[in-house]
Amino acid sequence: MATYVITGVSRGIGYEFLRQISKDPNNVVIGIVRDQPTTLKKVSEDADLKTRSNIHILEADLTSYDALKKAAAETAKITGGAIDYLIGNAGYVSQFDPYDPISVLGEKPQELEADLHKLINIHVVANIHLYNLFMPLILKGKTKKVVGISSGFADLDITNNFDLDLSALYSISKAAMNMVTAKFSAEYKKQGVLFLSICPGMVEVGHWNNSTPEQLQSLGGNLVKFAEYAPNFKGPDTPEASTQAVISVWEKASLENGDGGAFLSHFGNKQWL
Ligand SMILES: NC(=O)c1ccc[n+]([C@@H]2O[C@H](COP(=O)([O-])OP(=O)(O)OC[C@H]3O[C@@H](n4cnc5c(N)ncnc54)[C@H](OP(=O)(O)O)[C@@H]3O)[C@@H](O)[C@H]2O)c1
Repeated sequence: MATYVITGVSRGIGYEFLRQISKDPNNVVIGIVRDQPTTLKKVSEDADLKTRSNIHILEADLTSYDALKKAAAETAKITGGAIDYLIGNAGYVSQFDPYDPISVLGEKPQELEADLHKLINIHVVANIHLYNLFMPLILKGKTKKVVGISSGFADLDITNNFDLDLSALYSISKAAMNMVTAKFSAEYKKQGVLFLSICPGMVEVGHWNNSTPEQLQSLGGNLVKFAEYAPNFKGPDTPEASTQAVISVWEKASLENGDGGAFLSHFGNKQWL
C-alpha cells in the first residue's frame, strides 16, 4: 500500500496516473486540480474510476502558495500526516513558443515575457512551493519518492546535436525545473528522499488539435529531427503506455543506485524518444 499526491490530474497524463495508480485499491491517490467540481464530475462519470473510494480530489491552483498550503493540510488529514510519493505532473504547454525559433518570439517582447513568466511560475516557483509544503509528509512516509515530470526538451545534448530551436521558453522552464529537483535532492538525500526528473516521452493528449496547417508544418520540422535522432520513433505514445513506463522508471530508481536528482527519460536513461 502506498499514498500518492499527484498534481494536474484533471486531464492528459495526470488523469492517466490517477487511473493507473488507483487501480490498486490498497493505494490512496490524492489528485490536485484547479477546478475540483469539474474533475469530481469527470471521475464520477468514468466507468473505471467512479467506484474507487481510494481517489481524493483536492483543489489548488499551483501558483497560489496559500492554496497549496491548504491542500497539504487537507492531505495530512486524509493520510494521517504521511505520503509516500509526490508527483509534480501539472504543467503548462505554451501555444506561444512551439512554432517559431527564439528570434521570432523576440519580435513580440511583451508576449515573450508574459509567456516565460507563466512557464517559470508554474514549472519552477510552484514546484518549489509544492516540494517544500509536502516535504513534512514525505519525510514521514515509507517510500520517500518525489518526481517532477519534465521534458526531453530540457536536455542540452539533444538540443545541441539536433538544433532543436522550437519550444524555447518551455524548454528553458523545464531545464530550470530539473535544477529545482536536483537542489532538493542535494538537501534531502541524506534523509532518504529520492528526487527525480522524468520525461514521459512524446504523448498524445491533444495539444496540437487547434494548430493551423502552417503551425503543423513547423512542428513537422521537429518530427524530421526526431526521426533522425531516434529512427525507431513511430510517433507519440498513448497516455497509458507513457505513464506505465514512467511509473516503472520511478519504481526501479533508488538512492542506492545513485539516481538521486537524476533527469531520466521514460526508458530510464537519456534516450528521450
Ligand atoms: N504530452 C507530452 O507529450 C509531454 C511531453 C513531455 C513532458 N510533458 C509534461 O507532462 C506533464 C503533463 O502534461 P500533459 O501533456 O498531460 O498536459 P495537459 O494535458 O496540458 O495537462 C496539464 C495539467 O496541468 C494542470 N495545470 C496547468 N496549470 C496549472 C496550475 N496553475 N495549477 C494547477 N494545475 C495546473 C492542468 O489543469 P487544468 O485542466 O486546470 O488546466 C492539467 O491537469 C506536464 O508537466 C508536461 O510539461 C508532456
